[in-house]
Amino acid sequence: MLTFLVVSAAVFLCPLAICSPCIANNLPPKPALVGHRGAPMLAPENTMLSFRKSMECGVVAFETDVQLSKDMKPFLMHDNGPSFLLRTTDVKEKFLGRDADMHANFTLQELQTLNAGEWFVRTDPFQSVSSLSKEEKREANNQTVPSLSELLVMAKKHNVSLIFDLKNEKNSTGFHNSDSYYTAETIEKSGISPDKIWWLPPEYRHDVRKVTPGLKQVYNNVQEMYADGGSFLNMKYSFLSTHEISELRKNNVSVNLWVVNERWLFSLLWCSGASSVTTNACHILKSMSKPDWHLEPNMYMGIWISADVISLLLMFGLFLWQRRRNHVFHQNTSERSVPLLPR
Ligand SMILES: *[C@@H]1O[C@H](CO)[C@@H](O)[C@H](O)[C@H]1NC(C)=O
Ligand SMILES: *[C@@H]1O[C@H](CO)[C@@H](O)[C@H](O)[C@H]1NC(C)=O
Ligand SMILES: *[C@@H]1O[C@H](CO)[C@@H](O)[C@H](O)[C@H]1NC(C)=O
Ligand SMILES: *[C@@H]1O[C@H](CO)[C@@H](O)[C@H](O)[C@H]1NC(C)=O
Ligand SMILES: *[C@@H]1O[C@H](CO)[C@@H](O)[C@H](O)[C@H]1NC(C)=O
Repeated sequence: MLTFLVVSAAVFLCPLAICSPCIANNLPPKPALVGHRGAPMLAPENTMLSFRKSMECGVVAFETDVQLSKDMKPFLMHDNGPSFLLRTTDVKEKFLGRDADMHANFTLQELQTLNAGEWFVRTDPFQSVSSLSKEEKREANNQTVPSLSELLVMAKKHNVSLIFDLKNEKNSTGFHNSDSYYTAETIEKSGISPDKIWWLPPEYRHDVRKVTPGLKQVYNNVQEMYADGGSFLNMKYSFLSTHEISELRKNNVSVNLWVVNERWLFSLLWCSGASSVTTNACHILKSMSKPDWHLEPNMYMGIWISADVISLLLMFGLFLWQRRRNHVFHQNTSERSVPLLPR
């Protein structure tokens, strides 16, 4: 009986120990969406088609990856190191024997002869190709490696921001030889408003700031951000607790989290107040008009107290019924068994 009572009490009271940012009176605004390499589930990643598809989701920023070609032109490609073209282009057919070369072995012109979309239609990595129209499939089959300039033109025209990693920056030998330098120069030349660039690469941040003032400086580390007087974080969602996100937002820090593809995770970050998320699945998240669940604390208390009361009543009811049944059973058996007993 004691065990039973203790276990029941624990079950009945456990809702008190549950806390969630989605049990709150105020729901923060919906986080904005950032397209991770465009809309990589709907079109081949890091192609102009992919970025265009992400604009259909209303993304506020494109996320991409920048590398420098042999002729120091920034281009967009995620994989890096040797064989960086193998996964997403037809380098094996176009450049026989050069599929293990590095980014600095190809000129931009060479890169732009590659097909960077056919792999997507052929391998269908997200089982999404069947959802594309005939026209889109034809276009997906005819994508190449974009230059950063092309994406800047699109971003400028459509008032979309840009955030990117510099894949090879660690190997630079000084600011004026660096990927940061050539990238900042390309941004400057494009004429895009500098506040549309969320500058993330930390290596030459201060030099870049001198050459191209007005960029939005984004940090992947809280200490570094505060030390530098910044107010914009870009972090993996699992590196910040929902409480930390709320606290940062109270201090007016913009918080972008990557990579968020699931509705439940997006809901949780929404309740926590995240400013934006980088996503592969903008087509799923764009249609959410509220988190999957969000309860006011009074409602939550109401639900669990009613559930407790109903189950308590049921338990007592069962208990009484069982007692009565046992009683009747004992009466019946004792009446009936009396004459059967040997005298
Ligand atoms: C950068 O340098 C490291 C070693 O210092 C090397 O392993 C890596 O392949 C280099 N990356 C590129 C893209 O050159
Ligand atoms: C490829 O680039 C590296 C430097 O990144 C250079 O050392 C090497 O000679 C180049 N190879 C060819 C075939 O151009
Ligand atoms: C492929 O795209 C290029 C430029 O983006 C265009 O000039 C060409 O006509 C397209 N080819 C096909 C077969 O659609
Ligand atoms: C561009 O976007 C910003 C928000 O990022 C907005 O404040 C501004 O009004 C937009 N400008 C135009 C011309 O749409
Ligand atoms: C955050 O910004 C709002 C409005 O701009 C301001 O009222 C508030 O004092 C700021 N909070 C902090 C902690 O700076």
